[in-house]
Amino acid sequence: MGVPRRHFDCLVIGAGGGGLRSALQLARGDAHVAVISKVFPTRSHTVAAQGGMNAALGNTLPDDWHWHMFDTVKGSDYLGDQDAIEYMCRAAPSIVIEMEHYGVPFTRLENGRIYQRAFGGQSQNFGGDQAARTCAAADRTGHAMLHSLYQQNLRAKTHFFDEYFAVDLLMDDEGYAVGALALEVETGEPLVIEARTTLIATGGNGRMYRTTSNALINTGDGMAMALRAGIPLQDMEFYQFHPTGIAGMGALISEGVRGEGGYLVNSDGDRFMEKYAPSAKDLASRDVVSRAIATEVRGGRGCGRKKDFVYLKVDHLGADIIKKRLPGIRESAIRFAHTDPIDEPIPVYPTAHYVMGGIPTDRFGQVVVPVAHGPEEPVPGLYAVGECACVSVHGANRLGGNSVLDIVVFGRAAGNHMLGYMAENRYQRPVPESSVEKAMVTLTRWDQRGDGESVDELCGVLRKTMEDYCGVFRTQEILDDGVKRVLDLERRLEHVRLRDHSKVFNTARIEALELGNLMDVAVATVVSAAARKESRGAHSRPDYPKRDDKNWLKHTLFTKEGYKLDYKPVRMKPLTVESFPPKERVY
Ligand code: FUM
Repeated sequence: MGVPRRHFDCLVIGAGGGGLRSALQLARGDAHVAVISKVFPTRSHTVAAQGGMNAALGNTLPDDWHWHMFDTVKGSDYLGDQDAIEYMCRAAPSIVIEMEHYGVPFTRLENGRIYQRAFGGQSQNFGGDQAARTCAAADRTGHAMLHSLYQQNLRAKTHFFDEYFAVDLLMDDEGYAVGALALEVETGEPLVIEARTTLIATGGNGRMYRTTSNALINTGDGMAMALRAGIPLQDMEFYQFHPTGIAGMGALISEGVRGEGGYLVNSDGDRFMEKYAPSAKDLASRDVVSRAIATEVRGGRGCGRKKDFVYLKVDHLGADIIKKRLPGIRESAIRFAHTDPIDEPIPVYPTAHYVMGGIPTDRFGQVVVPVAHGPEEPVPGLYAVGECACVSVHGANRLGGNSVLDIVVFGRAAGNHMLGYMAENRYQRPVPESSVEKAMVTLTRWDQRGDGESVDELCGVLRKTMEDYCGVFRTQEILDDGVKRVLDLERRLEHVRLRDHSKVFNTARIEALELGNLMDVAVATVVSAAARKESRGAHSRPDYPKRDDKNWLKHTLFTKEGYKLDYKPVRMKPLTVESFPPKERVY
């Protein structure tokens, strides 16, 4: 008997902010939309976004979207594509108002306008005084956004497949995306979802690191699906470490804490960021602050018995501000660090947080691939948005508050483009049986194996290896060793041992599939990192300490087949304004 099939106009894989914003646009455009999500939609990782969403509203301090654009280009260490950055920063103010109308309860100023806090890398007047650009719903902005978008989708009659795991994309022989194979988590039954357009919005891959702010679900599933479909991943070497994870366990302490006036101190009680970023200090860009913390700890100025973290001091803000603006942070600090920030500083250290790279797209969310002897071309019917995508607005380093902006701006843009695509492609193309069979091989890949390490053990080794060999600082020696070790783990994966099916239900199979996905993106990351011989943004190479625009102002493309690397130019030309040429990046 064949795999059962369902048919929709559009398939959205992932129910975080990017997926839900796209789905809403599509459903409101009268498309028949399916969203599949491996967790209940409101448990998607957008729920964890704390600090807020950037837009040059100018409610707290003067602002202008051109300044936002400049900061984003500079923050990206000039690797961001300036057409996409312009599009995002320009759209931001109206997108915030739209989110408010969808129901996001933004915190208010006395005058009733939306509250905006300062975040890292924000400036007025192209590098001048600190700006305050981040629109916040206390410190639970992502939570509010996700719930509002979910409710709006229910109203628009989006069809949800809750707790369905996407296994592989389905492509036809002419290279059109025609849907995906999914697995119902509860029953273990496969399901083919046919669709004229498919959008990947599966979020990031932070679980490839041991210490991370990412939820258990962030296993790079969409990126790995793209790799298996022959689509390269872009700029995977640029992985962001958020400066303030709770020391030792990684849970996020929002940059909003420093935006409200919190600051970092070392074991001597020194406010050390003054040394690394004399002007922006604790609100320098994330790559700069993370390196500064790691350097303090390496220099023996870390705090605690093992001298392996620094403190984030907040108590001077007073109990009122902490309770009103940072309630979730206080709760996390009490629960995970056994510290009430009203009285004591929070122990922090950089934590793996966000991948700047991903599935290459244009600013309409279309997945684009290189073609021989010509400009890149869209994969017909295939789209990607959010952290799994690389549009690329974040380049080599993302600014805080730009990711929740990215997901809704490009979620909407992709939805609009998909509606246009469907107007021109009115009928479902047949889904070849061969592509379903291929996806079934992925699904059943580990069913017969079992004489090697357990999924848990191998996953633990992978995460520790990535932390040790592809972390905040990387040298050629460390990275080359990292490549060897990760490729060895990839070989060991072939023999991985699943938990006993008869006792533990089919989630064992899903854990193995997730590990397979993490392995694919880890290989892409470490291979891409070993090849880039410069320091840029989050890719920090003490052996190549300078940015090298002459040789490396270009995007990396990693292909799974043969672990091949290719490069393509950065789109330096914005849509309507002058471009920002690379210059030295100081804060
Ligand atoms: O620090 C934070 O609140 C995180 C925000 C972000 O990653 O954009």
